[in-house]
Amino acid sequence: MKIALGSDHGGYQLKVNLKEYLKELNVECIDFGCDNEKSVDYPDIGFKVAEEVKSGKCDRGILICGTGIGMTIVANKVRGIRASLCHDIFSARNTREHNDANILTLGERVIGTGLAKEIVKVWLNTKFSQEERHINRLNKIKQEEDKIYK
Ligand code: RB5
Repeated sequence: MKIALGSDHGGYQLKVNLKEYLKELNVECIDFGCDNEKSVDYPDIGFKVAEEVKSGKCDRGILICGTGIGMTIVANKVRGIRASLCHDIFSARNTREHNDANILTLGERVIGTGLAKEIVKVWLNTKFSQEERHINRLNKIKQEEDKIYK
């Protein structure tokens, strides 16, 4: 699996830590910045990562800002993206099983690196349930998107 990874300055340090962790897990990742703690605008990074996932060049994405909220708003503007802000293990597992989330968003100012690593591990390893009711719900989202983007 190839992961597109990105953060703004508010999520930079957690991105550095998670990049190292993905390496330990032998998960390939492409880093879309930012490259230091100098202030940047989260939409600039968030859209790049979301477009990478949309294009299929990367299978999934992880986006980090201070709260995780800005990155969630940005990523969900991109067609086909289902980005979920998860600060607990239950949500990380559920959003894969039920929502087939393809981008995980995190807030560095909200949770520590230890919990973030566990969330990432569960999120990476949980498959979409393929249950009919969840497929139907995702199809309803896709139908709305098809109307918006036609
Ligand atoms: C940056 O200060 C902060 O606003 C940003 O990282 C993020 O939390 C936005 O949602």
